[in-house]
Amino acid sequence: MTSDKTPKRRSQAWYGGISKDTTIHRAWMLNQGTPPDNFDGRPVIGICNTWSEFTPCNGHLRDLAERVKRGVLEAGGVPFEFPVMSLGENNIRPTAMLFRNLASMDVEESIRANPMDGVVLLCGCDKTTPSLVMGAASCDLPTIVVSGGPMLNGRHRGCELGSGTAVWRMVDELKAGKIGPQEFQDAEQGMARSPGSCMTMGTASTMASMMEALGLALPQNAATPAVDSRRRVLAQMSGRRIVDMVRSDTKLSDVVRRDSFENAIRVNAAIGGSTNAILHLIAIAGRLEVPLTSEDWDALGRDVPTILNLQPSGAYLMEDFYYAGGLPVVMKWLADRGLLHPDAASVSGTSIGAQVAAAENYNTDVIRTEGDPLTESGGIAVLKGNLAPLGAVVKPSAATPALMTHTGPAVVFEDIEDYKARIDDPALDVTAESILVLKNCGPKGYPGMAEVGNMALPAKLARDGVTDMVRISDARMSGTAFGTVVLHTAPEAAAGGPLALVQTGDVITLDVPQRKLHLHVSEDDLATRRAAWTPPEIVMAGGYQRLYVSSVLQADKGVDLDFLVGKRGAEVPRESH
Ligand code: FES
Ligand code: MG
Repeated sequence: MTSDKTPKRRSQAWYGGISKDTTIHRAWMLNQGTPPDNFDGRPVIGICNTWSEFTPCNGHLRDLAERVKRGVLEAGGVPFEFPVMSLGENNIRPTAMLFRNLASMDVEESIRANPMDGVVLLCGCDKTTPSLVMGAASCDLPTIVVSGGPMLNGRHRGCELGSGTAVWRMVDELKAGKIGPQEFQDAEQGMARSPGSCMTMGTASTMASMMEALGLALPQNAATPAVDSRRRVLAQMSGRRIVDMVRSDTKLSDVVRRDSFENAIRVNAAIGGSTNAILHLIAIAGRLEVPLTSEDWDALGRDVPTILNLQPSGAYLMEDFYYAGGLPVVMKWLADRGLLHPDAASVSGTSIGAQVAAAENYNTDVIRTEGDPLTESGGIAVLKGNLAPLGAVVKPSAATPALMTHTGPAVVFEDIEDYKARIDDPALDVTAESILVLKNCGPKGYPGMAEVGNMALPAKLARDGVTDMVRISDARMSGTAFGTVVLHTAPEAAAGGPLALVQTGDVITLDVPQRKLHLHVSEDDLATRRAAWTPPEIVMAGGYQRLYVSSVLQADKGVDLDFLVGKRGAEVPRESH
């Protein structure tokens, strides 16, 4: 252990030497049954846990934390687990995204304020991954992510049920009268059969894949099922690795660089990943001070086919992905085509290229490496135009090809209540050619940019067999959702973006191949409407929501709070007593 007893170790600023302060820091820790020699200078590893019973996707993370601890101890470190705010996508109102930045502040301050030399981030459900990585990035200690892993495939009445995706589909079927309320309710029993996160390529699986692609998690972090014994092994190995990373002083910013983000963007295109990834990765890059724009996303992902046949873009689920060989197969396929920076770093200790070189595909229908991709042009298309001066996004792999170029009249809903009140009104003047426009659901407007952009179709059209329509909003949509849905329109309506000025009957053109979103209203008419526009009232004027609404950035900047962008390091020069 002598090599560990370096005075430079961060934790030794708390625990090294004999003084009033070091005694205060050590003495109370002993009440947990910690041997005194644990403070002799060996790497102290924080295990940042988002376990919560209100975040069911992360409900098994205390078990994984124990596995991480085994690995840390094996490698000669000492582990201490600590909790941070946990965001459960399915429970939190008005939307977990409102609190992503708040949780990131909790993570950042908890890491900086405590005596740790490196940190393992335990996350799973959608927002827990970006919130932990954003907070850790602003501190920039040696860092590894361990994701909780996906649930077992959903099953109901002999069929597979994909988390989220099945809900969106069945709610349309219920509206169309294809299934009854009893079947709708019965399906609940088979949708979430084990610990873990959504087993479609929703935002949780996407972000777990992004962690592996960025080199911030060990290989197979994306797809190993939550309950597979190999997930526990991965956690234990991550415990070993973080100790090595502290010894070699390999910081988060040494691993995740511009080339890592470029790799992740291409991986996202190849897997048909969630549109939410663009917001989260831009926010993470902002914390690391790595330049990354939505234009980068479009340019890098544009020519990458989606080869992963997973719901919501395709047919299969995460268990199938793991058994087919997992994310390393996708990354090797990209590397073989020159679409991956092979020299990018990884917490595994080897380069990304070397890490995936031996990957084998065991099911070419799940991972379409042998031609016949799901979509030729995957990725996230970033649209611009007078309706979205700062951009809007659409996910081609989840959209209807015939609607990718479409001109139609707008049917406008001023906010989510207006939409809910009128969408199923038989008198609503709407056809399959109409474009549904939803306002005031962006970062400031909702607040928190809720996942309501994939609005369910009008019941009368659903009954007529309509399965998709062009929908435009400043909201997000769940990564498990699908349809020709234009999201993240910026600036948002509540910030006075042109979306606020759209009126029912206005003609809009969506042209995904040309990356255009155009409102056919003259500049003069728009100026008249703008002069008459007043911003909507803020729902809650005090507390965190006030801080959020006053400082949140627009979608093109990743929806971080303006004062949280950047690295602030882990130095704390002052003592507590
Ligand atoms: Fe937690 Fe989907 S609700 S991962
Ligand atoms: Mg989700």
